[in-house]
This record gives sequence, structure tokens and C-alpha cells, in this order.
Amino acid sequence: PNLDEMLNLFDFEAVASQILTKEAWAYYSSGADDEVTMRENHEAFRRIWLKPRVLIDVSKIDISTTILGHYSSFPLYITATALGKLGHPEGEVVLTRAAYTHKVIQMIPTLASCSLDEMVNARGEGQVQFYQLYANPDRNITERVVRAAEAKGCKALFITVDAPHLGRREKDMRLKYVEAPPDLQEEKDIRRDQGAAKAMNSFIDCRLKWADLEWFRSITSMPLVLKGIQTVEDAVMAAKLGMEGIVLSNHGGRQLDFARSAIEILPEVVQALKIEGLYDKIEIYIDGGIRRGTDIFKAIALGAKAVGIGRPMLYAMSAYGQPGVERALQLLKDELELTMALAGVTSIRECGPQYLDIRDLYNH
Ligand code: FNR
Repeated sequence: PNLDEMLNLFDFEAVASQILTKEAWAYYSSGADDEVTMRENHEAFRRIWLKPRVLIDVSKIDISTTILGHYSSFPLYITATALGKLGHPEGEVVLTRAAYTHKVIQMIPTLASCSLDEMVNARGEGQVQFYQLYANPDRNITERVVRAAEAKGCKALFITVDAPHLGRREKDMRLKYVEAPPDLQEEKDIRRDQGAAKAMNSFIDCRLKWADLEWFRSITSMPLVLKGIQTVEDAVMAAKLGMEGIVLSNHGGRQLDFARSAIEILPEVVQALKIEGLYDKIEIYIDGGIRRGTDIFKAIALGAKAVGIGRPMLYAMSAYGQPGVERALQLLKDELELTMALAGVTSIRECGPQYLDIRDLYNH
């Protein structure tokens, strides 16, 4: 189908499922075990209802915001997803360029198909990128990678904490996998016989612990964000340790099956941080299953500063390249703007829990 026939993010997924190689589709689309969490991530949004207000002048809607102080044209960023070249010959730089068009922030993955230099060099004027870190078991490599990201102008370090081991993604495990990300090609012990996820396991330090966070402070002045927080306890701990942000995330349902959705955890985390007096000290993001403007609206209303989006970007990129990613982002912007207009909310700042009915959220 033509790009202008793509009317929502699910349309891109349907096209991608047809055109991707079976290896790419298996790697991108899979979740852990029975994929219960992966499905729940989007399903949970369907248990939140809206309470629109009427007779409000909605001729101007401002969907812009900031993330860690950086302008973003709407409260969304492109999250880190590894191995972009499985879906598109140019890989992650396609996302870099589309992010620039729309003035949204891209998070660069440690395990990208493109090198850090390629993604940094693809930047437009004033474009902001964050860096997603998988801590390498070799601290010297980790330090080198973090310093390189900062030297190349990345504006924040998102440390992935939900993947000490990679989850069992069985669709992916049934296929053999051949390519290693360029920044890791010199590594010898890469496993190539059991899918992409298994091949990358050896690059991730499963000994990383809370006490190590201080070390990251000592090697970088980038703001630190923990990606993959899933409980109130850990959210409060992160805030007490002075992290600049947390991403409530279960890694798109690819890690621990039966982990709860981020949108369900969000109200508990906001409440706990408010009680501790820490809510103003840390930014909260969520990712997983964001597919509609209403999903973004709900996350913001419940106290998230922004949402991350993964698979839909890969699907749009694979199916239509840069114009596809640009259209997917435009669709989300349009949906969010219309949602706000119809809910009677004219700016992100005004968007709050009074516009939601979450009584069903915990009934399932
Ligand atoms: C991911 N994700 C991820 N996260 C991370 O911290 N480092 C990584 O290298 C990757 N790689 C990756 C590859 C693919 C194919 C997917 C689908 C996801 C997780 C990602 O950042 C994010 O948490 C989820 O993708 C969000 O869920 P949705 O938007 O895909 O539903």
C-alpha cells in the first residue's frame, strides 16, 4: 500500500510483517515466553477511560514539551532498539533523520547496527540525542563507550537495568543469526547459533548493581536515567540516589513475561514519589505499547513527562524508510492534538489525572 494509506501505527505493523525477512520480523516483533506482558502493554491502555471537558476554546493546542530540559515537539522520544539494519539497509540513521524532521529526541542504542559516529554525524542542526547503555562486563569498555557518547554530544545516559540477561524470545531463538553490531565486531565469543538476542547476551554485565551508579557519576556529567524500572521500591531508590530520570518499562515485553505494564505502575510510582517529596526531583518516562495519541495523553495525565516508542518506528522504517517514520510520528502528533482538543486540554502542562477514569485499570 501507499504511504498515504497508512492511517495509524497498526497499519505499519501489518505491512512490516509482510515485507520483513523472517529473521527481522522474529527479532523485532517477539516478546518473552508467552508474550503475555508484550500484549498487556498496549491492552492496559484500554482500561483507562477519558473524561473530556467541553466548551473550552481549543483553537490552539500546544503539544510541545521538554525532556531533561531539551525541547521536544511533543512528549515522545524514539527509544533504543538494537539492530536497525535487519529492517532497513541504512539502519538507525533513518530514525535520526526522521527525528530531526519532527524535532523529537532519538535514543541511540549501544547495540545499534550503525556506529555511534554514523548516528552522530547524521544529526541535524541542534538535534538532541540520548545514549542507551548496556554496561559491558568489561568496565574499561563501558567507560570508553560512555565517554565516547558524551564526547560526541549525547545529552543523557539511559542505563538499561532490566536486562542482566536477555529474555527468552522463542520466535527469535528458532532462527539463526549472523550479523554483529559494528562497534562489537572485534568481540570473539559472540554466539551465533540461537537467534539475535542470545548472540548479544555476552555484551551485557549481569553483575551491575545499585552501588555501581556512583561510578557512572564519576565518569560522566551526562544526566543519568535508569531504563527498566518496574516497581515503586526501585523508583523511590532511583530518586533517592539522585537519578535525573527513570523509564518505567518492561523492555517491550521482551524480558520478564508477566511483568506489569508501565502505565499500570505509573500511578503508584507518582504517588510514592509525591509522598517522599521526590516527584519534582526526577522525570518519569514510560514505554511499551504506546500506539495511539490517547495512549500518550493517558501517560502524561498520570504524571509521565514523556513516552518512548520502539517497534512502530522499526516497522515504519522497514516498510517505508525515512518518509515512513516521519508519517508515523505525524500520525501520533495529529492523534494527540485531536485527543487534547476533544478532551478540552490546550497544553501538556494542563493535562492531569482529572481527565481520566482509571477505576478499571486494576480490574483484570
Ligand atoms: C528493544 N529494546 C531495547 N532496549 C534497550 O534498552 N536496549 C536495546 O538494545 C533494545 N533493543 C530492542 C530491540 C527491539 C527490536 C525492541 C522491540 C525493543 C526495548 C525498547 O527500548 C523499549 O523498551 C520497547 O521497545 C518499548 O516497547 P514498544 O514501543 O516496542 O512496544
